[in-house]
Amino acid sequence: PASAVEPRDGELAVGGVALAEVADRFGTPVYVIDEGEVRERCRTYRHVFPEAEVLYAAKAFLCRAMVHWVDEEGLGLDVCSAGEMELAVTTGFPPEKIVLHGNAKSPRDLDTALRLGIGRIVIDSPSEIARLAAAVGSDGRQKVMVRVVPGISAGGHEKIRTGSESQKFGLSIRDGYAQHAIARILDQAQLELTGLHCHLGSQITSVKPYLAAVRRMVGLMARLYEQHGLVLPELDLGGGHGIAYRPGEPALDLITLARKVRAELGEACAAAGLTVPRLIIEPGRAIAGPAGIALYRVLAVKRTGAHTFVAVDGGMSDNPRPALYGVRYAPRLVGRHSAAATGPVSVVGRHCEAGDILAADVELPDDIRPGDLLAIPAAGAYHLSMASGYNMVGRPPVVAVDDGHARLLVRRESLEDIRSRDVGL
Ligand code: LLP
Repeated sequence: PASAVEPRDGELAVGGVALAEVADRFGTPVYVIDEGEVRERCRTYRHVFPEAEVLYAAKAFLCRAMVHWVDEEGLGLDVCSAGEMELAVTTGFPPEKIVLHGNAKSPRDLDTALRLGIGRIVIDSPSEIARLAAAVGSDGRQKVMVRVVPGISAGGHEKIRTGSESQKFGLSIRDGYAQHAIARILDQAQLELTGLHCHLGSQITSVKPYLAAVRRMVGLMARLYEQHGLVLPELDLGGGHGIAYRPGEPALDLITLARKVRAELGEACAAAGLTVPRLIIEPGRAIAGPAGIALYRVLAVKRTGAHTFVAVDGGMSDNPRPALYGVRYAPRLVGRHSAAATGPVSVVGRHCEAGDILAADVELPDDIRPGDLLAIPAAGAYHLSMASGYNMVGRPPVVAVDDGHARLLVRRESLEDIRSRDVGL
C-alpha cells in the first residue's frame, strides 16, 4: 500500500506500526488493515466522482469499524444479505443509504430489508417482483432498481465476470426479459422504480467496458422513455474497479474512468434526448483491497528436488483466491533484514491438500527459515469475507493500524467458538 514505509531494514511498518510488532502482539495469521488508507480511498472516490453516489460493496470486507469509516467518509453501502444489513444498521449506518443486491434473496433478506427501511432493493428475477410487492403490503412503497444484463463481459477471471448473457445475474436486455420485468414493476403500486443497475464483473483494469455499458444502458433508458414515457433518475454501473496485487501490475485509473464515463453519459443522453441520470458506483475491492495485509509465520522450509516449499501457519482457509482464481501474490519477508540472494520458492499453506498454495514461484531470500514473518499485500478485500472453516483452524483476527497505534477489530475464531456450534451427538 501507498502508506507502507520502511523505518529500518526489513521492518515494514503500516499506519506507523511495525508489522513484526502486530504479529508478536496479536499472533499469526492476522489481517492488518490500514484505517488511514481505507479513509483516503473513500475520499478519493468522493473527490473523483463528486456527482455520483458511491456505495462501498460490503462483500469485499465488513466489520463494525469498516461500517463506521465508510459512513464517516460519506459513502453509502451495497449489501447482499440480512447479515450484512443487520451489522451495518446496528452499527448506526443510515438504512436509506443502503442498497440490497442478490440473485436469490431469502425471505429473511427481504423481511430484514423492509423492517430496517433499506433504501433500495435491486430486483434480479421476475418472481421477485410479486414477492416483494406482497411483502411491502398495500400501504407501503419500496424503492427498487432492476439489474439488467448488458451483454458485456469483463473481469479478471471467468468466475468473476457478471455482465455476459450466460451467467446467473440480472435480466437480459437482448432477450427482452429486462423490458418485461420493468413493465410489470410499473404496474405495482407498492414499488417505485428509481433506476437501472448493471455490474460487469470484478477486477477490471480497462475503462472501455464501462463506456460500452453506459451506451447500452442509456439505449435501454431511451426505449423505456419512448414506450412508457418513463424517466429513470438513477443509473448504477456497479463496481469491479481493478487493483494491483503485485508491484508493476496495472490498476484501473479512476480519474480516467470518471472523466470518460461522464463524457460518454452526457453524450449518449443528449443524443437520446434524456436528462442525465444520477450515477451510482459500487467499488469494494478498490477501497479495502490495497489497505490490507495478511501476515503469516513460517512453520517449515522444505527442499525437494527442484522445489523449495515455504509453509506458513495459514493458507486456503484464510485466502482461497489463488486456488479459486489463480491470483498471484507477492509475499515479502518482514521483521528482519536478509542479505542473502533470492531464489524461487512456493509459499504454501497448512491445509490438507496439494492445491493449498498461497504464492507459487516467488522470489524470497535463500536463508528463509521457520519463525520468519511473511507479509502478503493487497489482502484487504475478499480474504476474511471468503475465509472458511476448513480443517478447523479458526479464522484470523483483524487488527486496525492507524497513526502509530494497533487495535483489535475482529478477534481470532477460537477452538471454543468452533466447538460451541457443534450441539449434537
Ligand atoms: N456490486 C455488485 C453487484 C457486485 O456483485 C460486486 C462484486 C461489487 C459491486 C463489487 O465489486 P468490486 O468493486 O469489489 O470488484 N470473490 C471475488 C470477487 C467477487 C465479486 C462479487 N461481486 C474475488 O475475490 O476476486
